[in-house]
Parts: sequence; C-alpha cells; structure tokens
Amino acid sequence: MLKHTLRTKLSRLRIGAALSFAVLTLGIGATQLKAATEQPLQVDESSFDCLTAMTAVRGFFVDNLLGNLDATLAVARSEQGGAYPTGSVVQLVPTEAMVKLAPGTSPVTNDWEFLELGVSEAGSTIVGRGFTDVVNRFGGNCFGCHIKAEPKWDFVCETGHGCDPLAFTREMIESAQNSDPRCKAPEEV
Ligand code: HEC
Repeated sequence: MLKHTLRTKLSRLRIGAALSFAVLTLGIGATQLKAATEQPLQVDESSFDCLTAMTAVRGFFVDNLLGNLDATLAVARSEQGGAYPTGSVVQLVPTEAMVKLAPGTSPVTNDWEFLELGVSEAGSTIVGRGFTDVVNRFGGNCFGCHIKAEPKWDFVCETGHGCDPLAFTREMIESAQNSDPRCKAPEEV
C-alpha cells in the first residue's frame, strides 16, 4: 500500500515536471518569436544616404527605415500635422537628422533621436546622437530649438511652427542640400 502511494506520488511528480518543462519551452519559444517579429530599430551609419535621394516634402526630405514611407509622408504632407510613425527619418541638410524610434524610447523628445552626421563620398559617420543633449556644428542644441514647435507638428520646425528661425537663407540651405558628397554625380549614375 505504502509502495503504491509512493509510486503514484512519484509518477505525479514526473508528470508535473514534464508539464512544467513543456510550459517553459513554449514560453521561451513565444518570447523568441516575439523578439524576432519586433526587431528593435537599428540606426547606424548605413541608415543614411544621399539626401536628395530621399523624398522631398516642401523644403525638407523624409524616408522610413522600416519601409513605412507612406505613413511618414501622410504626416509630413498633412496640414493638421500629427505624430510621425516609427522609422521616420527627417532631414533638412545632409549633416543633421531626426529619426523616430519605437514608442516609449524617449518620451521627452516624443521618441525622436537627433543625430549630427559626418558626410563624405565614402558615406556617413555618426558624430553625435541622442535626445536632449545633441548639439550641431554651430553649438546649437537640437532639442532646445525643436521643442518649440507646436505639439501637433511633432518637433518639425519648418517655418511658422513656433521655432526660432535658422540663421541661414533658403539659398544657403538649398546649396547645402545640393552639395551632399554622398550623392553620385549624374554621369556616375
Ligand atoms: C537654432 C535652432 C536650431 C538648432 C540648434 C537645430 N535646429 Fe533643426 N531646424 C531649425 C529650424 C528653424 C528648422 C526649419 C528651417 C526651415 O525649414 O527653414 C530646422 C529644420 C530641421 C530639420 C528638418 C525638419 C524641420 O524641423 O523643419 C531637421 C531634421 C533638423 N532641423 C534637425 C536638427 C538636428 C538633428 C539638430 C542638431 C544636430 C538641429 N536640427 C539643430 C532649428 C534648429
């Protein structure tokens, strides 16, 4: 009798262990699957290329690193503004970029990362990146200026969105846009 109870207890234990193992394995499998489908957005030198090869919207250029360009354009072209989708890249000049990271990454910048880039014929390098403390070549803090845009414009300044104007004329900005060394000369294309 005692032997029998022991055996039952033992086999229950074994079933229990097998079940826990199965649950654990399934759990790990699900976590791995989730990680595979929700790859964090990788932003590195290779994320940036010839400025004018991006899509022009009024005076600036946009792209989407997750292939979601239509969603980025919908906000960029909207007269009501809106929140840019994850993966959005916005640039005015070759050496400065804003990239929209995953929701919750940086609440204070509404998930925008600011980047100061180095550009040459060989490609891009990242000179500075971050959220509230990135400065451009002129010592200006990206966040300090862009935070002044009215909330509905999601940190995009343009003109008339509430930011202090840049000290550059439209001609100077266009000349910087058209002299990006990463863009191949027409005869090389
Ligand atoms: C002195 C304030 C100031 C500073 C500093 C500044 N910006 Fe801007 N930025 C502006 C203004 C104003 C515009 C719009 C210019 C225009 O369209 O005429 C602009 C335009 C842009 C744009 C195009 C989209 C938009 O907002 O119109 C990007 C992207 C951008 N800046 C990124 C940066 C990054 C990255 C930095 C730092 C490395 C930076 N900016 C520093 C004021 C600033």
